[in-house]
Amino acid sequence: MFLRLCINIDHVATLRQARKADEPDPIAAARLCEEAGADGITAHLREDRRHVQDADVDGMLRVLKKPFNLEMACTEEMLLIAERLLPHQVTLVPEKREEITTEGGLDVTREPEELTAAIARLKKAGIRTSLFVDPVPMIVERSAWLGADAIELHTGTYAHHPDDPRTIGALREGARQAAALHLAVHAGHGLTVKNVGLVAAIVEIEELNIGHTIVSNAIFEGIANSVRAMRRAMDAGR
Ligand code: PXP
Repeated sequence: MFLRLCINIDHVATLRQARKADEPDPIAAARLCEEAGADGITAHLREDRRHVQDADVDGMLRVLKKPFNLEMACTEEMLLIAERLLPHQVTLVPEKREEITTEGGLDVTREPEELTAAIARLKKAGIRTSLFVDPVPMIVERSAWLGADAIELHTGTYAHHPDDPRTIGALREGARQAAALHLAVHAGHGLTVKNVGLVAAIVEIEELNIGHTIVSNAIFEGIANSVRAMRRAMDAGR
């Protein structure tokens, strides 16, 4: 199975919002990522709008040629935005105001009816749905009950402890379990050129969402080279 590389452009917007200026433009960056071989673009419209803005999502959906994945919290405000803008895919993520980045996967055991209803609404609008979850057997199993098309396995623990075989083991097992439950398997968070190989080697995984390292490396080598380097590292690992 081909492994898609979807680039999360949030931190291009972080840099712009640091000055509340109009550069750098995340839409222009997303176009360059597409031209450099990205298979899709991802952006997280946070409730506090700390980086990506509504107009960025709107603009990207107008100009991008590849699928667009909107990361968002499961709230009425965000559901209405998704239903209006119609991204190709929505990834539901947990969100806390005080966090620096998404810290853990969704707690699919709490208020599952809310998630089931949101997934049904998104599906009715023709949007593919994914749930960002930790690679924990009970969580993966519960995710399958909720009716999403995919899960995105949280790779943060592996990224922080890549030398602990339990962390990659949990991702391998989670991917196997999800595929057996007929879920498409995505993964992301904290992945870099250095650590992506072992994740790319998990055959059930079909999509990676990678952001911070791409934008970080872009400062030194340009965003197109940054995307290409990640693609090479993924292909080598696969
Ligand atoms: N996937 C999800 C659900 C995320 O919330 C994030 C971070 O916004 C990523 C992937 C990308 O993580 P990183 O920026 O560390 O590559």
